[in-house]
Amino acid sequence: MLVAGNWKMNLDLVAARQLASALRSGVSGVDGVGPSGRVDVAVCPPFVNIDALYGILHGSGIRIGAQNMHSADAGAYTGEISASMLRAVGCHYVILGHSERREYFGETDADVQEKAIQAMNHRMVPIVCVGERLDDRDAGREEEIVGRQLNEGLKEMSLSGSRELVIAYEPVWAIGTGRTASPEQAQAMHAFIRSRLISQFGDAIGGGVDILYGGSMKPDNAAELLAQPDVNGGLIGGAALKADAFLAIIKAAAEATAESA
Ligand code: PGA
Repeated sequence: MLVAGNWKMNLDLVAARQLASALRSGVSGVDGVGPSGRVDVAVCPPFVNIDALYGILHGSGIRIGAQNMHSADAGAYTGEISASMLRAVGCHYVILGHSERREYFGETDADVQEKAIQAMNHRMVPIVCVGERLDDRDAGREEEIVGRQLNEGLKEMSLSGSRELVIAYEPVWAIGTGRTASPEQAQAMHAFIRSRLISQFGDAIGGGVDILYGGSMKPDNAAELLAQPDVNGGLIGGAALKADAFLAIIKAAAEATAESA
């Protein structure tokens, strides 16, 4: 299970340090958290704060991720950041294809696919985001949309283990809106994603890839979402910006895994 905080374009260096320090001390009291435990935890701050936060979080069991990257090795791409740069400052994860990147920055499934392969070549784990918009769900096309995002975004990808990839299902209509998918809606889509992963990567590997739910996950709805068999964690936006709320979700994940262990 993975609980990852997507800080988006929030928190300056001072605020980021404060939150990271509070999380560091908060997770030390939660059983089963950390890379060798049942619940992996990560925070994904804006690029400029990654280095400083790695210094604070290194050894705490909380890993660092980025929110985006460029697919090229290096070169004349003003304003962009490469996979090797992220790896060099301690990133373990990189979020790719978030719906805000797709919607505001024109990112396509082909971009996501190139970036995901590049991230893996640099020993980072891509958190590939998929999810339908409200009009697609209303038209009953959610599986068609997510299926296409997976087909195109994971094209030509091969895995040697299930920990090399994470998928985040984030229905666009639930992101930052306070409207959450019901546990049944989440489970139905996660089961669909699971079947696609198994058909591409096989039972052992595809069956073990973590599929996160994202979209207004909060302390009061985390437990029931995380209790679903194919919901293997959360990608948390708003609630990741407050130590208490994020820690409460981490605890819900630790409890959910303790129950299923
Ligand atoms: P939210 O964001 O938790 O604020 O809805 C989730 C995300 O966009 O990853």
